[in-house]
Amino acid sequence: MRYLSGIQPSGTPHLGNFFGAIQQHVELSRGLGAGDSALFFIADYHALTTTHDAVKLRAQVADVAATYVALGLDTDAAMLFRQSDIPEVTELTWLLMTVTGMGLLERAHSYKDKVANNITPSVGLFTYPILMAADIVAYDSDIVPVGQDQVQHIEMAQDMVTHFNSAHGVTALKRPEWRLSKTPKVPGTDGQKMSKSYNNAITIFVEGKEQKKQVNAIVTDSREPAEPKDPSTVKPYAILALFLTDDERADWEARLRAGGVGYGDVKKALMQKMDERFGDARRVYQELTTTAQGQERLNELLVAGAARARPIAQATLTRCLEAVGMDSAARRARGGRA
Ligand code: ADP
Ligand code: TRP
Repeated sequence: MRYLSGIQPSGTPHLGNFFGAIQQHVELSRGLGAGDSALFFIADYHALTTTHDAVKLRAQVADVAATYVALGLDTDAAMLFRQSDIPEVTELTWLLMTVTGMGLLERAHSYKDKVANNITPSVGLFTYPILMAADIVAYDSDIVPVGQDQVQHIEMAQDMVTHFNSAHGVTALKRPEWRLSKTPKVPGTDGQKMSKSYNNAITIFVEGKEQKKQVNAIVTDSREPAEPKDPSTVKPYAILALFLTDDERADWEARLRAGGVGYGDVKKALMQKMDERFGDARRVYQELTTTAQGQERLNELLVAGAARARPIAQATLTRCLEAVGMDSAARRARGGRA
């Protein structure tokens, strides 16, 4: 099986990214069987649909890479790389554009949500799912592990595969399947989906005062500590529960129902759990993001990852170019017959 997923460098990774995606990616990288492969990339082309600040983009790419490495991604087993280091992906995007109907893109929830939130759409934002489909099919991916919000995009990629293969009478592209993590939708501090763009995120490696500020932002009501509470109505508990074992969860839920547990207690426990779970990784992350050696190591890892991933995308592009009738000698001379 080949597993592939991408994450946008559009802000500092948060608990939604961790429980919805990164944790699963790290576990996958550590448990690959013979014949399996895994690719994880930083979707910097996609981030350009929302970020036009080179300094910020560079820092956020490093941030995502450091997060994966600090959380234990096995970079010998899995390939970690920048999306933009594989130019074949954008060429493939054009080929897919020519077989994709406007109607398919107009139905995209994430596009409709952004427009509803008054973001003036660029053509790039509109065609975002086509670039994402190219990311997936370029590497002949079988399984795409993601959070709930990305499922529709993968279904669109499946449609594009069908359209391309049938338009050209080939089987050049492989149909991908999505796979949800155990926690496909982590709530943010306001109870909506946690997202970098909704100002409701708790970042993975936050500590001290800033951690307190983010955790205290979780919305609660005016019920007193003594009042019994249905755990499903306690927003900070929904996030704390992600860190708990089954036994711990049963214990917390019994205590909430009995009364005597305040929102402050839940928030304090959440901060403790974050410190326990991420304390060691936090130090590695700091080292990688704040020192010159750290930056250099990240860069080397990303370049090495791209060198392993690129031949796969080159082979796919070659197949697609042949299928559409663009297999000229000049192109062959340029390479890509991997
Ligand atoms: P964001 O919405 O913060 O910009 P991304 O779109 O970059 O996050 O998402 C990266 C990965 O994290 C995707 O696989 C996505 O499904 C997952 N993800 C993002 N937010 C959440 C969430 N609140 N709950 C579960 N998974 C999430
Ligand atoms: N759109 C994804 C997100 O916002 C990131 C992404 C880009 C991706 N290309 C991908 C995810 C390919 C999975 C596969 O989370």
